[in-house]
Amino acid sequence: MAAPLEIDWLPSSRIGDLQAFLEAEWRAEHVLARDAELLRWQHPRGDDELSFVAATERGELVGVLGVIPVEFGVRGDRLSGAWLTTWAVTPAARARRVGLQLLELALECHDFVGTIGGNATTMTILGALRFQTRSAVPRWIRPLDRTELAHFVGEIPDAPESPAGDGFTVREWRAADASDWNLYWEGTLASRLVGVCRDARYLEWRYLSHPRFDYRVEIAEAQTGEPAGLLVHRLERASGGEMTVLRIVDALGEGLAVAALALHVAERGRRIGAAFADFYCTSQHAARPLETAGFVAESALGLEFPSRFQPFEPGSRPLTAAFRLASQNTEQLTGSDVYFTRSDCDQDRPS
Ligand SMILES: CC(C)(COP(=O)(O)OP(=O)(O)OC[C@H]1O[C@@H](n2cnc3c(N)ncnc32)[C@H](O)[C@@H]1OP(=O)(O)O)[C@@H](O)C(=O)NCCC(=O)NCCS
Repeated sequence: MAAPLEIDWLPSSRIGDLQAFLEAEWRAEHVLARDAELLRWQHPRGDDELSFVAATERGELVGVLGVIPVEFGVRGDRLSGAWLTTWAVTPAARARRVGLQLLELALECHDFVGTIGGNATTMTILGALRFQTRSAVPRWIRPLDRTELAHFVGEIPDAPESPAGDGFTVREWRAADASDWNLYWEGTLASRLVGVCRDARYLEWRYLSHPRFDYRVEIAEAQTGEPAGLLVHRLERASGGEMTVLRIVDALGEGLAVAALALHVAERGRRIGAAFADFYCTSQHAARPLETAGFVAESALGLEFPSRFQPFEPGSRPLTAAFRLASQNTEQLTGSDVYFTRSDCDQDRPS
């Protein structure tokens, strides 16, 4: 008779078992198997548990599903959300519905469940479970150093750039901005978006307290002194030194304010010699102000800009997405106000 299977959240005391499992069953040398601080930061659930659903048989882990807990907003309503990360079952325990039981617990505990960058297996299984699936999150590109790009991408047409509008001061985020940003988020942005609640608490956790990456969070301040836009980016140096890329991971706010921020970071990218800037975002509407700063949809350029840098790989790999709302009509997740970027889920992390 098969041993009973326990499915539950993983006690923090078992972090060593989890890392050994990831090393053996997921990928040798995977960053989460090596870096306990990053693992704890990415999967917070309280003092005693990690946000990993674990399947245990005879005291041994036989399967895990990583969950990044987030507050999820549907046009102003706050729901509990979960981004799914590492999902693995030992070969000996596969095809016994262990994977599904791990997923069921995550679905029971959260109204929104999604993943970004899922592989073909994940997309097949989640598609069959009626998740909304997208084969590629749109990506916007701002070429910055055409000579360097000519080696890796080819000849790139000129992108028009409009002059910056007056009326906004672009500056780095300060801790004292939190309450004004929350007012702007709650009063203006939240009701227009479907996506993770990007309030100050989230920004501080996701970007400012990141244990390994150095994100730069900038806001555009209106003449009244109130925030009118936010843009977050980091610089990524390809592992072999091939190029530096400026990676925008959030762009939110009034069109003109976001355009001013985008022009500002494009200028920074040029100054430091970045080859190009990119921004993955499901919302065409949110990304449109970047076009003022010379960003163009990668699909419209008809060229492949590298998307993996650790290690560097030429060519662009599509970023998939799959998501589901348990308590509301999943149709809510089809509109152009659905705002997911590369910093949602676990795609913007060290590898
Ligand atoms: C994906 C994975 C976790 C599923 O775990 P599992 O315990 O074998 O899956 P289950 O037995 O619960 O099966 C769930 C359903 O998915 C289907 N399924 C399982 N593996 C599949 C695969 N590789 N491709 C397509 N469908 C698959 C099963 O047929 C089943 O569907 P059904 O109910 O219609 O029969 C496991 O196959 C695994 O560890 N794969 C390697 C790692 C991986 O690719 N993980 C996903 C990316 S994070």
